[in-house]
Amino acid sequence: MRTTIPTGALALAAASTLAIAATVNIVQERATEGTAGCGVSHIFPGLTQYYSLQSSGVDRSYSVHIPSNYNDTAPYPVVLGFHGSSEIGFFFEADTGLSESKYSADKIMVYPNGLGGAWAGANYSEATVPEDLQFVSDLLDAVRAGWCIDNSRIYATGMSIGGGFVNTIACSAVGGEFAAFAASSGSFYTDATGPDDGCTPARSPLPMLEIHGGADTDVHYEGGPGEGGIEPAIPDWLGWWAERNSCGTNTSETLFNGDVQHYTWECSGVADLLQHWKVDDMKHCWASTTLDFFRNRGRSGPHTH
Ligand SMILES: *[C@@H]1O[C@H](CO)[C@@H](O)[C@H](O)[C@H]1NC(C)=O
Ligand SMILES: *[C@@H]1O[C@H](CO)[C@@H](O)[C@H](O)[C@H]1NC(C)=O
Ligand SMILES: *[C@@H]1O[C@H](CO)[C@@H](O)[C@H](O)[C@H]1NC(C)=O
Repeated sequence: MRTTIPTGALALAAASTLAIAATVNIVQERATEGTAGCGVSHIFPGLTQYYSLQSSGVDRSYSVHIPSNYNDTAPYPVVLGFHGSSEIGFFFEADTGLSESKYSADKIMVYPNGLGGAWAGANYSEATVPEDLQFVSDLLDAVRAGWCIDNSRIYATGMSIGGGFVNTIACSAVGGEFAAFAASSGSFYTDATGPDDGCTPARSPLPMLEIHGGADTDVHYEGGPGEGGIEPAIPDWLGWWAERNSCGTNTSETLFNGDVQHYTWECSGVADLLQHWKVDDMKHCWASTTLDFFRNRGRSGPHTH
């Protein structure tokens, strides 16, 4: 009998940041110069701290994790990690382990909190798409002002509706500020019906990676009505990115005794610019080789998107 936990699956993709890190080399080389936050010192590096800002007239919050040996004059890559629904950034941080030094010894992690525990795009979201995109823009301003950031290495990752919102960012003007995107088990409410469904990326090609469980009973691989609206079939959604990014046809390799298919596309002459990991027996969770809270919640919790 097959286990429902994909043993060994995606050690390589245990954290999307690892995978996006692999795309760093395909991002155009730009001169590395730090932001206004270079020179700002921080106490208690290594401990996640909580911050707030005003955006569209409301209080928004986020937390930041910097390496314990943070050098305030060295420009760091930054990863924004967007939590799933009925969640906060703190849980996403704990579930994914992304603040652990094996993932982020050399980068700054930022965990924004959604209004009402969600991100824009679902029919139950509190914030509108323009409001949440404005928050992303205001958040980037705050992060650049407060920490030493390498502007050419800003990334976004997220789980479920947070993954869907990563795609909403990629489809928007502020997406042009990011080097690459990675969504896990994404519910792509704002990009559900075709290549032009409200998706106007700021540049092309735009590096994108998605990881999805073939046994996801919350955000179905085959698409259809989800909890917050219609979701696309994942191969269709990938096809739209292949079109936007001027990619060729996919090539695939089978891994982990047939449980994992890794699809890659060459786009505008850049190898592996678009990537997809399908884990056949994985449900709605963050791909990992160790047991995490997402698995428990993903099986039994009411709001796991
Ligand atoms: C801090 O970063 C600056 C700029 O990259 C570098 O010149 C300096 O050597 C670093 N300091 C330490 C202690 O690593
Ligand atoms: C949201 O969309 C889903 C799927 O289309 C639907 O089943 C649900 O009733 C909708 N909920 C609201 C509050 O509109
Ligand atoms: C890969 O390409 C094949 C052949 O064109 C297509 O049928 C399939 O849907 C693609 N797979 C994904 C995950 O996009």
